[in-house]
Amino acid sequence: MEHYVIHGGNPLSGEVEIAGAKNAALGILAASIMADEAVTIENVPDVSDIRVLVQAIKSIGADVQHPDRHTYIINGAGIQDLPVDNEYVRRIRGSYYMIGALLGKYKRAQVALPGGCNIGLRPIDQHIKGFRALGADVSLESRGLVRAEAEELTGAHIYMDVVSVGATINIVMAASLAKGTTIIENAAKEPHVVDLANFLNSMGARIKGAGTDVIRIKGVDHLHGTEYAIIPDQIEAGTYMFAAAATKGDVTITNVIPKHLESLSAKLIEIGCEIEESDDALRVVASKRLGHTNVKTLPYPGFPTDMQPQIAVLLGLANGTSIVTESIFENRFKYVDELIKMGANITVESNTAIVTGVEQYHGAVIDAPDLRAGAALVTAALAAKGLSQVFNIHFIERGYEDFPEKLRSLGGEIVKVDTREEEENAKRTFLRRAQ
Ligand code: EPZ
Repeated sequence: MEHYVIHGGNPLSGEVEIAGAKNAALGILAASIMADEAVTIENVPDVSDIRVLVQAIKSIGADVQHPDRHTYIINGAGIQDLPVDNEYVRRIRGSYYMIGALLGKYKRAQVALPGGCNIGLRPIDQHIKGFRALGADVSLESRGLVRAEAEELTGAHIYMDVVSVGATINIVMAASLAKGTTIIENAAKEPHVVDLANFLNSMGARIKGAGTDVIRIKGVDHLHGTEYAIIPDQIEAGTYMFAAAATKGDVTITNVIPKHLESLSAKLIEIGCEIEESDDALRVVASKRLGHTNVKTLPYPGFPTDMQPQIAVLLGLANGTSIVTESIFENRFKYVDELIKMGANITVESNTAIVTGVEQYHGAVIDAPDLRAGAALVTAALAAKGLSQVFNIHFIERGYEDFPEKLRSLGGEIVKVDTREEEENAKRTFLRRAQ
């Protein structure tokens, strides 16, 4: 079975380049079908969630070209097959963006309910509330199909009850092709919401205020083709920042927007790392044992829930006791049992983890429970003494491009194996090198 064999203990050092943001790309690729002209999207990460969404987009009749690894050219002129329900759509959460895109363009959409990482209930009531406010009839059909239809979409004043990235993006898409003005209050402010709005504006949409609590959208009649490059992935960058810190390394992370990483840099500085920032790069140096702190996940610009497992891994090695509070999803501590197998001292009570630092983790055989927690456990294994094996790596491959390759370029001893023989070879090589 495919898994990673990891030999921990090497401080990561060197330079790593960050790919385009997966969660921005999911929204932008879905929105690209809203034009009947070619839309060129660059800096798309080559990860499995993206490949699955692209299959879903192809499956409804859009023309998709893939001239190089990180570029897609999509033309939605040929779309015919409106019900979007196939194995691709059901596999990833990002496919729910097809609802906003199709509803905006064709005033009707029928899309299978989203899959995605099992990190909590993940309702879509705010998406539905937004579509209904724009005048759509929305119903949940059998087999988990969401059907949304409208004679006409009309701009509305929408107050979001919770800050939701997905609902904000979906409503922005549909409202871009509605009649009149839509105002979304209590909107999500994540960098990928801003990226999606910039992308739609480059197609002729009229969206203002993305990145603040209030987004105003003046509907237009149609959207045209464009060329657009996706922003760098804030969470991939954060993962390497924290991996550098956990292994007491010295890593320069390039192709980033340091402003998007401020909540992460601030925590790293607070616990004793040095951070050097330039225009599009950031260097993290950790030369001593880190200190403890408390952290609570919040919508942007707060500390991201997607980095919660990574900071717990780091604080699990810090001096003293830290408290990690998860306030976005209900089920995001599933990795703790795996980390305990590596020697961590963590107890979870409801949405809070109490993390008492240990001197070192030790290698173990562990399962990745979801995408970000999987990446965090790999970080722990790189910091640990001895050999680890991480299974369920298909979760990690959903969102990290060339993860083992990039870690190896920083001196991490990690290799992806499939057969028993490959596993034994990898272990032998690592142990021989360690002698
Ligand atoms: C996006 O999920 C990301 N996924 C997640 O990243 C990320 O963890 C999350 O935003 C928060 O930043 C994608 O972009 C594809 P939300 P999303 O709607 O849009 C509640 C990763 O690892 N809520 O902002 O699903 C919800 O239950 C993934 O890359 C409602 O109550 O998250 C949660 O508590 C994992 N009703 C909170 O809002 C709704 O209708 C935030 O969810 C929608 C959401």
